[in-house]
Amino acid sequence: MRDINQFTITEAVKQSFKTEEGSRLKFLLETFIDHLHDYTREVNLTHEEWMGILMFLYDCGKISTPERHEFILLSDVLGFSALVDMINTRGGQTEGSNLGPFYLDDAPRFALGGDLGGGRDGAVLLVQGQVRDSLGNPIAGAVIDTWQTDSAGTYPIQEQASGQDKYDLRGIFTTGEDGKYWYTTVLPKPYTVPYDGPVGRLLRAGNRHAWRASHLHYIVRAPGYRPITTELFFDNTDYLDNDAVFGVRRSLITKLEPVKKTDSLPPTDKVPNARCSFDFVLAPEG
Ligand code: BEZ
Ligand code: FE
Repeated sequence: MRDINQFTITEAVKQSFKTEEGSRLKFLLETFIDHLHDYTREVNLTHEEWMGILMFLYDCGKISTPERHEFILLSDVLGFSALVDMINTRGGQTEGSNLGPFYLDDAPRFALGGDLGGGRDGAVLLVQGQVRDSLGNPIAGAVIDTWQTDSAGTYPIQEQASGQDKYDLRGIFTTGEDGKYWYTTVLPKPYTVPYDGPVGRLLRAGNRHAWRASHLHYIVRAPGYRPITTELFFDNTDYLDNDAVFGVRRSLITKLEPVKKTDSLPPTDKVPNARCSFDFVLAPEG
């Protein structure tokens, strides 16, 4: 090891870890070391740049709290989260998209046709569709967990200091025998990802904005199927082609339509004035 140089160091670092032969950990670690060292040699990293990267990561750690996940945000704006979603989407199933930081795993349950809006300002949107398998069979008893912003682009969980209930604008619905679901809510609006920290500095340095196209978040689960985490976007809205976290996929854009008197709509607690529809397709487990 004393004759180590900028080329032999990569193998030396890999050899220093005594990980189990053929294990996933060994593969992940060794490939990471290869890429990190290759990057460092390729860009001829200076000491100032090296320290700049470490201080940036330090700042991400410093601003992070259980409510503020700066490393997830970093992963999001670098397209790392989206890439993981993409490579883990099975053929035939609904494409995956960002979980984001505002999910709560204990949202209130609603009956089909219920309203998530709770009297808030904004267009009353009917969201309807079906959960099915990749052969087109309806999935009964599928659980649809959804959360979203209000019509000003704010998640109630971000506004708890001003008295908002963190469970507002989120809910869980269960499909009936025909796999169908429907509910009303307020039409969400675009919002910015947090940009008052190190990730915001990175966006500004790269002349990038922090806006997300307006969306509804979903986790859909059913026994025997792979759960999906995804988002639904609306056509003719801003930032579809430059979403700050690369969450938009063509297959996840739905048509937003005004409700017409002649439309035949499912029964809802609140009368909608806009509607959209989206079917979720789940792939079998395994
Ligand atoms: C979201 O979609 O909720 C989100 C995603 C990334 C960063 C911040 C928010
Ligand atoms: Fe979101």
